[in-house]
Amino acid sequence: MMTDKIVENTKKLLEKHNQNHLLTFWDQLDTTQRRNLLAQIGRLDFPEIDDWVANFVRVPASAQIKADFVPVRSYAPVPADAEQELKYDRAVELGAELISSGKVAAFVVAGGQGTRLGFDGPKGNFPISPVKGKTLFQIFAETIAAVSEKYHARCPWYVMTSPLNHTETIEIFRSNDYYGLDEEDVFLFQQGTLPNFSFDGKILLADKAEIACSPDGHGGSLNALYQSGALDDMKRRGADFISYWQVDNSLINIFDPLFIGLHALDKAEMSSKAVIKSDPYEKVGNFCLLDGRVTVIEYSDLPDDLARKRCADGSLNFELGSIAIHIINRAFVERLNTGGFSLPLHKAVKKIPYIDEEGSLVEPAEPNGVKLESFVFDALPLASKSIILQTLRSQEFAPAKNATGVDGVEAAKQMIVARAAEWLESAGVSVPRKPDGSADCLIEIAPGFALRKDDIKAKLNRIPQINSGDEIYLV
Ligand code: UD1
Repeated sequence: MMTDKIVENTKKLLEKHNQNHLLTFWDQLDTTQRRNLLAQIGRLDFPEIDDWVANFVRVPASAQIKADFVPVRSYAPVPADAEQELKYDRAVELGAELISSGKVAAFVVAGGQGTRLGFDGPKGNFPISPVKGKTLFQIFAETIAAVSEKYHARCPWYVMTSPLNHTETIEIFRSNDYYGLDEEDVFLFQQGTLPNFSFDGKILLADKAEIACSPDGHGGSLNALYQSGALDDMKRRGADFISYWQVDNSLINIFDPLFIGLHALDKAEMSSKAVIKSDPYEKVGNFCLLDGRVTVIEYSDLPDDLARKRCADGSLNFELGSIAIHIINRAFVERLNTGGFSLPLHKAVKKIPYIDEEGSLVEPAEPNGVKLESFVFDALPLASKSIILQTLRSQEFAPAKNATGVDGVEAAKQMIVARAAEWLESAGVSVPRKPDGSADCLIEIAPGFALRKDDIKAKLNRIPQINSGDEIYLV
């Protein structure tokens, strides 16, 4: 029940924390709106917010970055010597065993806004495959189905959405009949949000009775996995390892026995895959060591001179780029949540629509405020052990982040075709090529046809002759 006492206390609280403007329109609100606004305010932790304002909102982003980081070692895509070859073989065997015994869960973070892609709707619903126009969600679902069949396992899939796209994402899964997966094995849940701030630390109102909020970043997944019951669901199923990836990666190798196996053999808690950066300023996180712990420094935070620095052999000093693929132990996420953890917040200066003191909606033309997010890779230093496996970009990283250009849709489609062409040629199939070396045809390989290069040989009798200009779909 809403009593005057509650309202009075709320006013006092807001005044104490310099946020009393949140009740500016109180007198104009009806009972439902008042109740909603009080509930939103009640969910905020004001001492914590004071801390965010002091340490993140009002502080330049560069001041949040420590500078004493050094390069870090990784496992190479292929073993360096006979001893390592033995280890890789054991890892592949163990990884396969873990997948077969249902110990690995798939987890995609799909809560972002996807503004850069210029696509109206959840990014996972973007049609990306070059021949059939399959969406990212469909490719992931078919991969999970193919893995389940290959390993005779039941592989659960966890999908994190945000309040921006949750309802729509559920509708997409339902209308696609969960892409042929058992509905029981697909667990959709929402991440949390954080309030948006003006530059002077005031929480913005999106409407007279609504606080402006945005998703709390993919780092919020570690909390959301716990809060949503997803971790409990994993525990019930006996899934100990979480295979994490981002919704924009169209070439993701969701269940990689080598990666899972190396992570398990080394008794790591959270591990990562890396590629060699294509140039010093590639827009990927940089793996490094900070105080002896594996850490990711975002591209925007790596000083230019360090980004450009090279070793004696010409390679970049910080050459390992993050492709945002991790294996995370379920027990690690449980431990974080029961031990009271918090990841650092990162500030992004944005154009945030808000209601001004007169109650008019302002759509700013210039950035006017701050959104705060946490990043999942900031949990790496909290892990007792963390390994990095280098992989080949051409095999598992083709992000569709932008409508055009670098990390664009066309580039991702070309990479899907390029990988398919390479897999076919490695099995002796002839693929027509243009003078610039790219495939002179479109090829799409369904996950059910082949999950990796080695699967092609067994299917040679189902592959037609490929001519220039052909569109080939192998299923
Ligand atoms: C990200 C990584 C970068 C990495 C690169 C690889 C960050 C800050 N940077 O860059 O280190 O090298 O990908 O492709 O992450 N998401 C949510 N909820 C949120 C925010 C994001 O689920 O609140 C999801 C998005 O749906 C997407 C992913 O996280 O799947 C990446 O987010 P985005 O903000 O697009 O990061 P990038 O700049 O692409």
